Amino acid sequence: MANRIVLHAYRYELPRLLLWVLLAGLGLTQVACSQASPALASGPAPRPLSSLEPHYRQTVLNGWRSFQTSFARDGLACVDCHLDHDALSLWAAAYPKVVVFDQSPYRVKGLAEVIGETLTTHTDLSVRRRQSLVDDIQAYISWRGEGQIVTPGYSKRLSPPQEDLDQLQKAVERGRGLTRQTLSGPCLKCHTPGQAEEGLHPLFRATSSFPRYVEKARRVMSLEAFLVWHLASNGSEGFAPQGRNVTDLSAYLAELAKGQRYSPGTPLHGGNND
Ligand code: HEC
Ligand code: HEC
Repeated sequence: MANRIVLHAYRYELPRLLLWVLLAGLGLTQVACSQASPALASGPAPRPLSSLEPHYRQTVLNGWRSFQTSFARDGLACVDCHLDHDALSLWAAAYPKVVVFDQSPYRVKGLAEVIGETLTTHTDLSVRRRQSLVDDIQAYISWRGEGQIVTPGYSKRLSPPQEDLDQLQKAVERGRGLTRQTLSGPCLKCHTPGQAEEGLHPLFRATSSFPRYVEKARRVMSLEAFLVWHLASNGSEGFAPQGRNVTDLSAYLAELAKGQRYSPGTPLHGGNND
């Protein structure tokens, strides 16, 4: 009886074992394992640095360096607490969203604002030095997130609290309202929002392609920085990248982009969004 059970097990297990040995020989067990992991299965790895648009690549590289450098007396760098690339790759395509650290305000924030908060907590740098690092670190985190699906609010494998999602939904609605009534005239005068209508510069593509190099501005910009610059060139001054209006607009644009593949660094009109 015992023999039969062993034999039975062998009949089913042996072919699998042999397949595994074969795959291991070919170096494919990594692939087989990663397919089993939901985080890795959700998107391909980022493109190699060599294939990135040169300005964007330089910003990503600067950010990578800063992420590994300690700017604090205690000697801690970002990477010391954020070693897990798979966890890190889920961040960028989840913003804007609610993030709250000790003593930081409870509200919807863009990724740049959150990076600014971490630099305040984890470095001894002056405000100016911190600001100069934010864009670079954001580009690095975004590059790591390339290929993920845009899922505003969800930066971890566990769902966020419902209260956070409600806050985000309110920001989306405020943002939607703003596209209909801004100082320079409604955005919808020049844009169409959705995928259904083919029109001039549809807004649903924006979130998945930032940060990127903006030729006319001659710099790498986050979506929020782009919006401020774009609004100013349309005659609406006084918006700030981390101000509530811009965060709300960005939350609305992220909602439009939900479900797309995140492809930061993509130049305008050269989109490879799914
Ligand atoms: C001493 C440890 C520590 C250091 C150093 C640190 N962090 Fe964090 N960080 C955390 C913890 C803990 C959290 C909250 C848990 C989480 O969200 O994963 C967090 C959360 C974050 C988040 C939010 C993630 C999300 O889910 O949206 C970002 C972005 C972030 N950190 C960026 C940075 C950057 C950039 C640096 C370097 C300037 C840094 N952190 C340095 C511990 C650290
Ligand atoms: C006067 C016309 C006009 C108005 C008003 C306008 N835009 Fe634009 N927008 C453009 C043009 C033209 C472009 C193409 C980029 C360029 O050449 O600057 C653009 C580009 C963009 C992009 C980048 C699109 C992409 O996928 O790359 C975003 C995002 C955007 N606008 C958002 C807005 C928002 C939000 C508003 C309102 C707050 C707004 N725009 C108001 C004309 C306008």
